Amino acid sequence: RRRNVSRRHAAQQRRKWVIAVAAVVIIALIGWFVLVDSSSDAAIRTDLEAEFKGFAPPDEVAEGSGVVEYDIVAQETTAELLDGLSTSVWALNGTVPGQPIRVKLGETVRVNFRNELPAETALHWHGVRVPNAMDGVPGVTQDPIAPGGTFTYEFAPPDAGTYWYHSHMNSTEQVERGIHAPLIVEDAISAQYSQDVAWVIDDWPLLENGRLDPNFNDPTDSTHNGRWGNVITINGETDAQLKARPGERIRLRLINAAVARPWALRFPDFPADLIAIDGPYLRSPRSADATILNPGARADIDFVVPDTPGTYEIKEDFSTQLITLGTIVVEGDPVETPSFPVPSNPDVPDWDDATSVGVDLEFKLSLSGNTWQINGEAFPDVEPEEVLPDVFTRVRFTNNSIRLHPMHLHGQFFKIIERNCEPVDEGHWRDSVLLFKDDVIDVGLIATDVGIWAMHCHILEHAAAGMLTLVTVPART
Ligand code: C2O
Ligand code: CU
Repeated sequence: RRRNVSRRHAAQQRRKWVIAVAAVVIIALIGWFVLVDSSSDAAIRTDLEAEFKGFAPPDEVAEGSGVVEYDIVAQETTAELLDGLSTSVWALNGTVPGQPIRVKLGETVRVNFRNELPAETALHWHGVRVPNAMDGVPGVTQDPIAPGGTFTYEFAPPDAGTYWYHSHMNSTEQVERGIHAPLIVEDAISAQYSQDVAWVIDDWPLLENGRLDPNFNDPTDSTHNGRWGNVITINGETDAQLKARPGERIRLRLINAAVARPWALRFPDFPADLIAIDGPYLRSPRSADATILNPGARADIDFVVPDTPGTYEIKEDFSTQLITLGTIVVEGDPVETPSFPVPSNPDVPDWDDATSVGVDLEFKLSLSGNTWQINGEAFPDVEPEEVLPDVFTRVRFTNNSIRLHPMHLHGQFFKIIERNCEPVDEGHWRDSVLLFKDDVIDVGLIATDVGIWAMHCHILEHAAAGMLTLVTVPART
């Protein structure tokens, strides 16, 4: 019996040893895999960071080459959007869209702003990397500007390109009423286009008497794709015409100021190159046809005016029906076409390996009742996410809804790296990305600008219904 017991004991001991050794081997293997994997993940990130050369090609800019000052007043006024009908609008220096701002790269913009609206407001410089305190997000980066109040915005835009500015206060109403305008940052040395023109595209929900539909935050709109208008304008006109002579070479800067509606650009009458999205140039131009301009986005087009006098249309067909946005009217004597290479940004990284690193941050987008949520939270009850400066960050947007979401991040550019599991290299930066039903889109981001930044849907009814969160980029240590 005793021998039996001791034999059993020996067998138990052996089994314990085997289990212990196996456990050690397994733990070592796991450790080795984790180590190898994380070291290659880290190595890839280092390479991705090394590929990053800034957002715009280095240009010969004399820093601090002067201040360009604008006095801008927000005020209620009327506009004739439809023939013979007067629409009461909110304007910046009397017009909708408002006072265009145009500076050269290197110059400082100073806006002495006065609010004469019957409501609090604040101005946001969409897409421009401004110092955080200038970002114009009430309750986050500044106090709202009271009726009768003033605020001075001052910043030196670091990247040339097409931007815009708009109210960030109760924006479903204020942007819709007209508190938005172009902000153009010209290259330090501009290409010699025959014309350089900004077109602000907008849609207005107008009632029969020309009055703007006052129903700004209708739950039906906000739980669907936001409020779409029945009257489309370019620079406040329903039949926008750009007059040009045959052979002219034109830079057309398209800005989507609609609160909710995307446009799918169509150039049926002449070839057009897409040269920039959301400000900075593309790595190389491509056909502008079928470019989707989501709310808030910009697209810069380079085209040569056809030789034959006549009218040529720029259209859009986002929702299947082909609509004319504006017309190029060609008349007069031909000119010699200016000849220069299409402006480009060869420094846009391809970030081929970006999809081999892990996801650092995910934003899940969903509807709960009438509230739009990001990761289950609705503004203002949100916990800011942190993104460290100067490191590659892979951000995933997951659309757990059937609606459109043009997600916009303040203060930073990013690049799409993957769309629904397919690697993507669009060849350009963006400040917003449009998600369709069930889309999962990953972007690569190297945060450069320190501060607390809004991240929200640019269907402004969605943002108003909660779809806004904050991203903190802490100061470099
Ligand atoms: Cu154009 Cu936060 O917005
Ligand atoms: Cu949305």
